[in-house]
Amino acid sequence: MQRGLKGIVAAETAISFIDGNAGVLVYRGHPAAKVAVQHSFEEVAYLLWHGALPGAAELSALQAEMRQARQVPDFIYTLIETLPQGLDMMNQMAAAATALCPGQEKPTLAQAVQLTAAMPVIAAAVYRKEQGLPAIRPHAALGHAANYLYTLTGEVPQEAHARALEAYMILTMEHGLNASTFTARVIASTESDMASAVSGAIGALKGPLHGGAPTEVITMLEEIGTVERTEGWLRARLENGERLMGFGHRVYKTKDPRAVALRQVTEQVGQDDHWLRLAAHVEQTAIRLLEEYKPGRGLYTNVEFYAAAVMRSIGLPASMFTPTFAVSRTVGWTAHVLEQAGDNTIFRPEARYTGVIYS
Ligand SMILES: CC(C)(COP(=O)(O)OP(=O)(O)OC[C@H]1O[C@@H](n2cnc3c(N)ncnc32)[C@H](O)[C@@H]1OP(=O)(O)O)[C@@H](O)C(=O)NCCC(=O)NCCS
Repeated sequence: MQRGLKGIVAAETAISFIDGNAGVLVYRGHPAAKVAVQHSFEEVAYLLWHGALPGAAELSALQAEMRQARQVPDFIYTLIETLPQGLDMMNQMAAAATALCPGQEKPTLAQAVQLTAAMPVIAAAVYRKEQGLPAIRPHAALGHAANYLYTLTGEVPQEAHARALEAYMILTMEHGLNASTFTARVIASTESDMASAVSGAIGALKGPLHGGAPTEVITMLEEIGTVERTEGWLRARLENGERLMGFGHRVYKTKDPRAVALRQVTEQVGQDDHWLRLAAHVEQTAIRLLEEYKPGRGLYTNVEFYAAAVMRSIGLPASMFTPTFAVSRTVGWTAHVLEQAGDNTIFRPEARYTGVIYS
């Protein structure tokens, strides 16, 4: 028996591949770090669903379909408005996703596109409801990531912010058979429907052991505040035997390829942005100091460090981290549901009984 199925191969997939020792994450054969820098959210979603990057005609068809699908019906906004204030935002998103895409039919690609296109609109409406603000309808001219920011704030975002968020969203779209993706596949394996698989996955992602929260990284960046204060602040923590948040990873024992790619993007677009510039400086300094204080441990930036930096730079509160993760991961979940439904065997492992047996 392997507790938590650790190390057990439980499914075959052609969607992504992770090599933690080599620091490699591959989406359908393409390094995720490369596609995140070179392609849009829509292109990479197409890649994960179809197995190849789209041509120009395929891309514009997908963009048109997603723009149409993000015009969610009024009853979704009404539903969100009527859900109790303070109900966990992830549960509100799951309820809206299930209402949007009901049905018992076999999961379809059209549903994958519909849920992916609608999820940021739903997350933004939930966020604004929690702030006591009215929902904002999608902007007809903006791409997926930029429109997400627009529906959150009501302002067309700066190009740098939209691009940094888009790269983060691409890099968190998919990550093998993690707990929420496994949940989605288990639900799909019972021949349940797409929205049930996605809402179950949202429930799994919400747990702190999975969806996490980069609050501590945000606190660290806020406390450091300026480039000049960085080294002294980090050194004091390490002298004190404390851990630096956003560094080290259980799977990646070399550079987390997602963090490497995000650094590249933030370097390209974040020259004028205080938080992205500060994050790049904190990262460089921390890696140098971690090698000095913890030589040979292979401690590098993890993706959550940049999640925090990107969120802080675009002004999103920590409470939106996990919802934004769900917005991105919907692509991976739906791709896995389609793969599972395409060659299905119901998941039904066994448990070792540790109780008593009375005669
Ligand atoms: C992610 C994490 C749990 C992975 O842990 P792990 O692979 O099991 O590594 P270990 O906990 O065994 O640590 C190995 C060594 O590196 C050190 N180390 C690991 N991460 C460190 C960090 N972020 N800062 C300083 N030292 C760290 C440990 O103190 C340990 O040192 P030792 O050999 O002197 O005892 C760990 O790196 C960590 O706690 N990181 C900080 C938390 C974080 O970034 N979380 C995300 C916040 S949003």
